[in-house]
Amino acid sequence: MEIMDTPWGEVGLDRYPADQREQLRAWDAADAYALAHLAEAGADLGGRVAVVGDRWGALTTALAAAAPAGQELTQISDSYLGQQATRGNLRRNAPDAAVRLLSTRDEPPHAVDVLLIRVPKSLALLEDQLHRIAPALGRDTLVLGAGMVSEIHTSTLRLFERVLGPTRTSLAVRKARLIHCTPAPGRTRGRNPWPLRYALPDGIGVMSGRTVTNHAGVFCADRLDIGTRFLLAHLPRRSGPDRVVDLGCGNGVVGTAAALANPRSTVLFVDESHQAVASARATFEENAGPGAAAEFLVGDALADAPPASADLVLNNPPFHSHRATSDAVARRMFGTARAALRPGGELWVVGNRHLGYHVRLRRLFGACELVASDPKFVLLRAVRD
Ligand SMILES: C[S@@+](CC[C@H](N)C(=O)[O-])C[C@H]1O[C@@H](n2cnc3c(N)ncnc32)[C@H](O)[C@@H]1O
Repeated sequence: MEIMDTPWGEVGLDRYPADQREQLRAWDAADAYALAHLAEAGADLGGRVAVVGDRWGALTTALAAAAPAGQELTQISDSYLGQQATRGNLRRNAPDAAVRLLSTRDEPPHAVDVLLIRVPKSLALLEDQLHRIAPALGRDTLVLGAGMVSEIHTSTLRLFERVLGPTRTSLAVRKARLIHCTPAPGRTRGRNPWPLRYALPDGIGVMSGRTVTNHAGVFCADRLDIGTRFLLAHLPRRSGPDRVVDLGCGNGVVGTAAALANPRSTVLFVDESHQAVASARATFEENAGPGAAAEFLVGDALADAPPASADLVLNNPPFHSHRATSDAVARRMFGTARAALRPGGELWVVGNRHLGYHVRLRRLFGACELVASDPKFVLLRAVRD
């Protein structure tokens, strides 16, 4: 845990899961800049305050710890890990605060006096979030965006301007920037284009020509990823009542393919993104037959799965993540998958060949086999002993 100085006192913050090897801070200069500005501007934080896109709960925790009388604080987040971090940080710093933790799929608050937006990496997610929260804003709502300079582009500002109202940015401080926006309720803001649906190409087996649904911010929301395509082309042929896991399911294309390839299987779709799990549910419901069985879980890899409960885990791990380094997420996915597999159960992993997943898998499972490869990708299989 590390201490963050806020205008209202110190708070001790952690990420989730806390990784001793990484020691990454749970806040950055953009969070600090936003809080300092609210204090200097004398913003009235005693009303309905909404925080959108808080990474690890630094903004929410600082505001909850300040706790002016009458404050109704709501956090809206797409990330299960971010929500878990927020819960831990609130427990440590503001145990009595009644903060509403909503996901991006929940109905947003109906009215907001102060809106604090931590600009997400995904412009699509920002677009969806601004459209969803816009009806809650009045002419007097204070809207403040915050992000690192590298995260705020002309397109970001244009989006605020188009969906909410007149927008300007601050000077950069410690490589962070603020966005000041004056809501113009009633303006024509155009239609929210999310979720996006597209038809898959031919030549990918059971999913050829089928349609997938993508909520904003989901991995490869407008086209099939080439790694996923490689996995789909080499899916294991199995039959019988398998319990299959689509680990890090994104839009659910892999798990839906597994369900179509083996109609007697039950597929568990897991992702730490609420947007992803909602997309997977829509993709599965549209494509799998009426008798197909599935479960949907927003969670941290397979950390909460019962031991020895899965026959087959299919996984395309993330290799760019703002939440931790690629290696940490893949490690967690492989480790929790091993614990969730029954003896004889299999983990299939697709990845860029340079990522060296075979080394990790061999260390964890004792052995690992190359199922298929091309100049860019490898598909690996590890069996639980
Ligand atoms: C490379 S994408 C693969 C998506 C999909 N399976 C596909 O192939 O199109 C990796 C996915 O892992 C998810 N993810 C990242 N960290 C996670 C975690 N700790 N637990 C569960 N899912 C996670 C991301 O949200 C993302 O959807």
